[in-house]
Amino acid sequence: VLNAANGTMPQDYASYVVEIPHEEFRVRSSIYCDPDVFADELQRIFERSWIYVGHESELPVAGDFKLAAIGRVPVIVSRDVDNKIHVLINMCRHRGTAVCNEPRGNNRYFVCPYHRWTYDSAGKLVSLADEEGYPLSARDRIGGLIRIPHVATFNGLIFARIGEGESLEDFLQPIRRHLDLWFSQSPIGRIKVLPPTVSSYPANWKFQVENTTDGWHARYVHNSAFKILEEHGMRDRKRGVVGVSRGYDNGHALLHRPLRRFFEAGAMERYRQTLIDAHGPDRGREAAEYGGQMTIFPNFQLVEHRFRLIQPVSVSETIVYEIPVTFEGVPEEINAEIRSRFTEEGGGMISGFVNSDDIEMFARVQMALNASHLAPWLDMSRGIAAERADPGDGIVSEAAHELPLRAMYRHWRTMMASNP
Ligand code: FES
Ligand SMILES: [Fe+2]
Repeated sequence: VLNAANGTMPQDYASYVVEIPHEEFRVRSSIYCDPDVFADELQRIFERSWIYVGHESELPVAGDFKLAAIGRVPVIVSRDVDNKIHVLINMCRHRGTAVCNEPRGNNRYFVCPYHRWTYDSAGKLVSLADEEGYPLSARDRIGGLIRIPHVATFNGLIFARIGEGESLEDFLQPIRRHLDLWFSQSPIGRIKVLPPTVSSYPANWKFQVENTTDGWHARYVHNSAFKILEEHGMRDRKRGVVGVSRGYDNGHALLHRPLRRFFEAGAMERYRQTLIDAHGPDRGREAAEYGGQMTIFPNFQLVEHRFRLIQPVSVSETIVYEIPVTFEGVPEEINAEIRSRFTEEGGGMISGFVNSDDIEMFARVQMALNASHLAPWLDMSRGIAAERADPGDGIVSEAAHELPLRAMYRHWRTMMASNP
């Protein structure tokens, strides 16, 4: 019996997620520790989904670039001299060296350090060093860096997709209402993205995706951190029990609760008024209190007032980018407050004492998964009988129910079970 369930069979991914409506929801424990599952995720999910690679504010002028990744495919996001944004595979067409090593910058050319082949900011191969050694046609035959075929933006967020599929707009549509609300935290709907803090943890990438919209664990895992925040007036004891969880088609999910902004009272009032003037009283108030933690499947999250990007490295290694943002058109004191909250409450995962609690849990799960062949299933059924449709806004349940995880794994199963 154990052998039948331990993942040594050919992978039949439809059977990896078992759902009995209103009763039970479980996933194979091997999805977090089987290198074959990880390899298939890269192909079936990361190469067939819209993946966040950056924000237009990071590349304001021609020649600006930044590094990113689609799954494990290293890419350069580059604004060319005609202001067009390209997503280029960061791999020299000669013998494969990464042509760009700066995380961000501005340059008209990418010069391969190995033998000096040179590409322009659109990826075109413009010079083969020591060109006399090549037939005349070589440069045209090779062309340039390989381009990711599909690139699209939403409110300045840049997404890229390797395989064929639906438009970015259709992909985001199920959670669009909340994306729009998130952006209305700026009176003009515009943000600036600042350089991220980068950290890593020794466990599977999906743990962080799950955790961000898991409204249940915090009261236990973060108990001591929350006490310290409460002592400093930075947290409301009751906040953990308000709000709802939501799930959407395409694997998107949301932990939706009003955010008690710990701005100084006058600043909060000025901020709220700015948003009311811009969006009207209802939406202005809603935006001022907005505190969603949102997953855009598979690995991009909008968390209160920052982004989180979860980068798979191996089946048991993950990099996390915590990306601070500032809102344009708001009183300067608001952005200053957001920055201080970002650093103090633990946006930076290394110094942050909230996120380090979570990472400890991820590492402990990964370690225990050495027993996954003897314990082949993990449970995600909390609140499954309470799920209900909320017309126009996905499905909804209590904040501490595991609905966001189920939304994620329903789509995970769809993508993993269909052949690329
Ligand atoms: S590998 Fe890039 S020039 Fe040789
Ligand atoms: Fe947490």
